Amino acid sequence: MALSLHRDSANDSVAFFSQAATFERLWPLIEARVHQVFDRGKFSHGRQVAELEQALAAYTGAGHVVGVNSGTDALVLLLRACGLRPGDGVLVPAYSFVATASSVVLAGGRPQFVDIDPARHAMDPAALEAAVTPASRFVMPAHLFSRMADTAALAAVADRHGLILLEDSAEAIGMRRGGLHAGLHGAGGVLSFFPSKTLGALGDAGAVLTDDPEVAERVAALRHHGRPGRTLDDFPAIATPSALPGVNSKMDDLQAAVLLAKLTRLDADIARRAALGAAYRRRLTGVPGITRLPPAPAHGPDSSDVLYVYLIEAERRDALADHLARRGIGTEVYYPLPLPLQPAFASLGHRPGDFPHAEAASARALALPLYPDLTEDQVDRVCAEIRAFRTGRPS
Ligand SMILES: Cc1ncc(COP(=O)(O)O)c(C=O)c1O
Repeated sequence: MALSLHRDSANDSVAFFSQAATFERLWPLIEARVHQVFDRGKFSHGRQVAELEQALAAYTGAGHVVGVNSGTDALVLLLRACGLRPGDGVLVPAYSFVATASSVVLAGGRPQFVDIDPARHAMDPAALEAAVTPASRFVMPAHLFSRMADTAALAAVADRHGLILLEDSAEAIGMRRGGLHAGLHGAGGVLSFFPSKTLGALGDAGAVLTDDPEVAERVAALRHHGRPGRTLDDFPAIATPSALPGVNSKMDDLQAAVLLAKLTRLDADIARRAALGAAYRRRLTGVPGITRLPPAPAHGPDSSDVLYVYLIEAERRDALADHLARRGIGTEVYYPLPLPLQPAFASLGHRPGDFPHAEAASARALALPLYPDLTEDQVDRVCAEIRAFRTGRPS
């Protein structure tokens, strides 16, 4: 049966994010997968999850992929599986999604913030060197928006100080550097399948990537109350009590089914994102007050960028976002407050001015609509309104 979703074609608004056309296009693939779930009658942690783990291992080149129920849980369980002890210092970027640092607290560690390299919006290796303390045990850069952090330089600092390198690669499916997929440059990384991600589910889901079989085994146990066994299909009938106090972070088979269907289109979707990024770049280059556009994504056998979020930096950012909202164009501020200044981390005692590059990015960053089913006409409309705001002339 075809899927036909309601869309308001009468108005010319541009949603910040929409999957309606994607789901209509992929519905036959998704429907076939969803039928398999209902036919088997296993809705959690079953065969679709195991298949997705294998398909993601093949796509990323990871030795092991362990599906869990969000990118945030993936970070917490990865930190625990890698031996984080209470109070261990984990060096994280001062500018990222809150889960990069809250996962550290949830796992029992202490975030140690590091300023970013403004060219990459990612942890600055020189600032990392300066932030290491005797309490530091881990370093966890995040790969945000479209490019990876400089993993080689960060790994060199980590090695010099005996730190374990983990990656918050929640946004980075498809991104590679030096021939390695994001998440595989240290002891492990994660993926988020939140609906707006490059590979998005119908709700929450996530995964851990690692080449270390012991880390994979521990994450696999932690996600299911500490019990060994990879999926519900291969659990022993009577589960052995475990020494690991785990959580319930199993992945739903319906999410895995949707992700397996969408994975077949991922590279085409990534190419479409690059084409839309080029369209934005052509139209926004030279517009006054736009202080930064994303770099054109590199695409080669060894290193590839992925335009997950089209993030510009702009003067009078909030006024620009308001202007666009009044004309029906959705935008998002990624991320409105640097992590060290967020209330959740107030006890660490940071002050405005401590992380100047993170603060500058938070004051200027604005994400424009970007998803495979956006049209070039819609990109035109967004850019015309940005120019109108800048020049004060109606579009
Ligand atoms: C950088 C980063 N880290 C962690 C997460 C958390 O992932 P999730 O929303 O799946 O819990 C996200 C996604 O929202 C993210 O963008």
